[in-house]
This record gives sequence, structure tokens and C-alpha cells, in this order.
Amino acid sequence: MTANVEPIRWRGDALELLDQRLLPREVHWVVCSDASAVARAIREMVVRGAPAIGVSAAYGIALASLRGDDVTAAAAELREARPTAVNLMWAVDRMLRARGGDLVAEADAIFREDVESNRRIGAFGAELLGEQTTILTHCNAGALATAGYGTALGVVRAAVEAGKRIAVFADETRPYLQGARLTAWELQQDGIDVTLITDNMAGHFFQQGQFDAVIVGADRIAANGDAANKIGTYTVAVLAHAHGVPFYVAAPVSTIDPDCANGTLIPIEERSADEVTSIGGKSIAPEGINVRHPAFDVTPARLISAIITDRGVLRAPFDESIRRALASQS
Ligand code: MRU
Repeated sequence: MTANVEPIRWRGDALELLDQRLLPREVHWVVCSDASAVARAIREMVVRGAPAIGVSAAYGIALASLRGDDVTAAAAELREARPTAVNLMWAVDRMLRARGGDLVAEADAIFREDVESNRRIGAFGAELLGEQTTILTHCNAGALATAGYGTALGVVRAAVEAGKRIAVFADETRPYLQGARLTAWELQQDGIDVTLITDNMAGHFFQQGQFDAVIVGADRIAANGDAANKIGTYTVAVLAHAHGVPFYVAAPVSTIDPDCANGTLIPIEERSADEVTSIGGKSIAPEGINVRHPAFDVTPARLISAIITDRGVLRAPFDESIRRALASQS
């Protein structure tokens, strides 16, 4: 099974990004002809999801090189587009190391390897699931958040391919609604059984014994296994723990930041108040209200049953299993 949706298309002299702000109402591609346009698209969430923004940034640097622009300046602008997803910095650093060579080929390799990584994550993760499993997921860690196939939703796809009967519950994921707009749409496109719930319904369904497992993605995993992901993930992890439901994080090893000793050191992006005070451009809160909008939270390693990576399934003690995974060849 390949995912029916792909968010990133390289056109030889431009990068086309599926505008995820407009989904599912409209399928529209944004054309980026230079690195600044790619950085803007990342900042404004045209493209989002840790691996997808890493792949896009790689093509941004390839564009700078093709156009004869200042590659160092392009790298700095792209690196600053969003702070939490370490795949962005990882991809920029890898592109800078390839300077002097063919940067388009390097970006193509990052794209291709991301899809391959997701397929490996899918295969490892599918083995953890029973023949008939209902999964809760949060945000969108699917084909739309990667070069294709997905991490958390890659596990779903691989399990479906293996003949398992998988049903997915998608949290709507306030405030940006990645669950309602993206996960629900992406799984529906593939004909996978998906049910949308609001974030505050999750506890009720845990209580009813509805979920066999939780699978989410990650934006950055610290060396001790603490994992940053979309705001609200921590709440789901606490609920899973309280109800004895396994909580899995699915991510490639490029999402692990060995320089971050623990989750308190992961930078958490604060996004605009507008995304909280309005839905679909319509204001829902009083003018001038105080707002907080951390875009991510950190789930402590002790709440994570396993981290499903492209190099295998990692379990506690995570500092050791992560060190071994980073040292091993893929
Ligand atoms: O703000 P977003 O939509 O970029 O946040 C995305 C997530 O939190 C995803 O779960 C994460 O990046 C993993 S994507 C495979």
C-alpha cells in the first residue's frame, strides 16, 4: 500500500508543496522558487510535520545552490523557520556537509530515505499490534507529515497491509486541527477505518476500553527518551498510562537529538494567539483576551511503552537503547 497523498513534489527548478492550511476543502499546491519561499511555507504551515519540513528545507538549500544564492544565509533562514522539530536542523546540517557535491541529489536522497525509513518503522510497528486493533492517534504523523507513508500512520498502513483489522480514532487536535483536517482526510483517502473525536472525548473512550494502543509521532526525542510532540500528546500519554494502554512513539532516528539530555531542554514553539482565538478564520473568543499557545508538549520517557524507529523498537532504559540505535547502521 502506498499512501494516496504526498505533500512534496520536486520539479527540477522549484519545490511544490501541498498547501496543508487549505485541506481538506481544497487541494492547492504552493510553488517555492527560492529558499526564502520554502522557509515562509514552513513558518506558515503550508508544509508541517517534522520529517516533511526537514525534506522541504533540504530542497530549499538545493534551490539556493541552483540559483547561485548564498547557501549559508539560506541555511540560517531555513533553520530558524520553526524551533522544535530537530529533523529541520538535521536536514540543513546534512545538506551543508554535502556542499561541493550535487545538492539536488542529496535532497532527493533525504526524500527517498525518509519514505524508506517510514516503511521500516511501519514494519517494526505493525508487529506490535494485534490482529484486531483500535488505535488512538493525535495530530498528523502521516504521509502528509513526511515525504510519504508516515510514521504513526505508517504503522497503521503496514498493519493494514499485513491483513490486520485496524481502526483509528483521530483526536481533532486543537488548535490547528491537524487531526480533523489532515489525519481524518488522509486515512479516508486510503479507505482506512477512521473515526474523528474532539480532544476532550479521549478520556471517555479510554474509560470505555475503546483503545488497544496509542501511536503518535515526535518532533524531537531527547537522549533519555522524553519526546516532544503536538500539544495535547502528554495528556493522551497520561490517560494511556492510567488505563494500562500501550503508548507508542513512532519516529525515525533523525528525530532523536543526542545533544538534548532530557525533555526540559527541548525548545517549545509558541505560536500566534489567532490560532487559538479563531477556527477557520472565524473568531470564537472575546477581543483582546490573554492567550497562551505552546505548539508542543513533552511526554516523559516513563510514560512511553516503546519508541518505534527505522532501526527497530526501542524500550526502557531509553538512554541505553537510544545510544545503541544511534550507533548502529540502518
Ligand atoms: O505543528 P505540526 O503540525 O508541524 O506538528 C506536527 C506533529 O506534532 C507531528 O506529530 C510530528 O511532527 C511528527 S510527524 C511524522
